[in-house]
Amino acid sequence: MPSVKISASVLNSNLAELGKEAAKISENGVEYVHYDVMDGEFVENITYGSSIQKSLLPYTSAKMDTHLMVMHPGRQIKLFADAGSDIITFHVESDCEPSSLIDEIHALGVKAGVAVKPGTPAEAVFPYIEKADMILVMTVEPGYGGQGFIHAMTDKIRLIRAEADRLGKDIDIQVDGGINTETAKLVKEAGANVLVAGTFLFKAENMKTAADSMR
Ligand code: DX5
Ligand code: ZN
Repeated sequence: MPSVKISASVLNSNLAELGKEAAKISENGVEYVHYDVMDGEFVENITYGSSIQKSLLPYTSAKMDTHLMVMHPGRQIKLFADAGSDIITFHVESDCEPSSLIDEIHALGVKAGVAVKPGTPAEAVFPYIEKADMILVMTVEPGYGGQGFIHAMTDKIRLIRAEADRLGKDIDIQVDGGINTETAKLVKEAGANVLVAGTFLFKAENMKTAADSMR
């Protein structure tokens, strides 16, 4: 399994001070800024787009981990590549042809991730394991931070890790939603290695200690 990395979701941080919040992520040794993009269609909420991501780059040395919860991800990838995304993840349930979208993201020099909602079976992402750089298993329903971890998702992580092993691919498996010290342990045991946390890291007194407790 690849090494454990942490991605801090700014969704529930102080959005009026997003530059400072992004700075805090790299200052505390956290590898990624997890940037949740919502369009009011794929999910009801609306967050922030590529221009705000671009404006954050001078504030942080963490890499940008973009999670597109949008119905038409194909329209966004060039914008986010230009805005400094290191990885762009889109949903298999969105309106797209995943295999060609992965190619388009790669052609822009960016890593590609494929995300799967809690109600979608693991098999839906199997065809993309060989081509993608990361599979994101949602451990809550996409839309909001601060929700409870769905325990049944550990089986899905196991199935995806087993399929990746079968294919001989050392892929990153990311989990997102309700991750803290306790649930981090469960998802790592199941085969996940990129852990997204929003509420847990931003509510912690010491972000570095909190992040280290998840590793
Ligand atoms: C939910 C988002 C998550 C969310 C995680 O739709 O994709 O990234 O911010 O937040 P917590 O860690 O609070 O569950
Ligand atoms: Zn997310």
